[in-house]
Amino acid sequence: MRLANCHNFHDFRRMAQRRLPGPIFDYIDGAADDEIAYRRNTAAFDDCDLVPSVLRGVTNVDTSVTVMGQKLALPVYCSPTALQRLFHHNGERAVAAAASKYGTMFGVSSLGTISIEEARRIGAGPQVFQLYFHKDRGLNREMMDRAKLAGVNVLMLAVDSITGGNRERDVRTGFTIPFRLNLAGLTQFAIKPAWAINYARHERFRLPQLENHVNFDGGQMSISRYFTEMLDPSMAWDDVATLVQNWDGQFCLKGIMSVEDARRSVDIGCTGIALSNHGGRQLDGSRCAFDQLAEIVDAVGDRIDVMMDGGVQRGTHVLKALSLGAKAVGIGRYYLFPLASAGQAGVEMALGILRTEIERDMKLMGCTSVRQLSRQNLRFRA
Ligand code: LAC
Repeated sequence: MRLANCHNFHDFRRMAQRRLPGPIFDYIDGAADDEIAYRRNTAAFDDCDLVPSVLRGVTNVDTSVTVMGQKLALPVYCSPTALQRLFHHNGERAVAAAASKYGTMFGVSSLGTISIEEARRIGAGPQVFQLYFHKDRGLNREMMDRAKLAGVNVLMLAVDSITGGNRERDVRTGFTIPFRLNLAGLTQFAIKPAWAINYARHERFRLPQLENHVNFDGGQMSISRYFTEMLDPSMAWDDVATLVQNWDGQFCLKGIMSVEDARRSVDIGCTGIALSNHGGRQLDGSRCAFDQLAEIVDAVGDRIDVMMDGGVQRGTHVLKALSLGAKAVGIGRYYLFPLASAGQAGVEMALGILRTEIERDMKLMGCTSVRQLSRQNLRFRA
């Protein structure tokens, strides 16, 4: 399968599946328990229809938005995700460069495989750092200081990962970092030698945000164990209020889902919230961001920037979220499969496809700017 044959999310997903060892593909593709939330994330978009307006003169379409003080050329940003150099040897370097080329925001994670500083040197686009709240408060402070000094534009605190989700695909393959796979997992690596050779030829896999604090050499660290052992389950609103004050800049909580929590986010001075169920990877059966969006926009949308992520695979999905009041929409697997398929060229192609879809769909909706999208454009099916 070749890049030229990829026209949508599903094609990139198939191409990634062919290239990646099974355990790595399953880590990206998988979700918690019965993966109901994962499936609902995309299915939710089908419960409403777009109602186009016609004869509006749509020669020039402006897809730009301003969110958390950042001007983005697209209403879509690349959400921070973990372990990217495992999927392609260029990892975050490829995604940051592609995002910058498309004038949009890129996020690097606490579990990123290049440093905050290196990421910030790639491209001029706005960048997010996704912080996890560790038991080791020194580590939290160090990461925030580094992000500030590097010139990161937005701090995004993940609040939905206080313990590891039950990702049974990873349990079955034994997916851990560094690789300590069980027999079934190892067999999968053996049948993807091209990936293995490529991986071995490039620089050592690292987690630069964590390596001074965690010793990965001796033992195995699964994502679930990382969440459960290193993150601090005592994290509460007071802790976050202090972080917001210390950061003193654009601060977003990722994983807010209830109206009450959205209001509290405003109260403690956050400038953004991202509705998210972490791609269905944490609490299965959790309501999905799109289903919850209208209620939260109505409650706090005039006081804080509301974003959402989860299940976005099409330009029309983006338009539906914007019509409900999201300021921008995050993508994860949508760029990770292209990254795994073909590195930066893959991510650029995927972002290009999404941009083309958004532009085309806006024209078909009779809109020349994102601001014109509103609930008038949507009808939910009974
Ligand atoms: C995950 C974390 C690391 O979902 O974001 O795997």
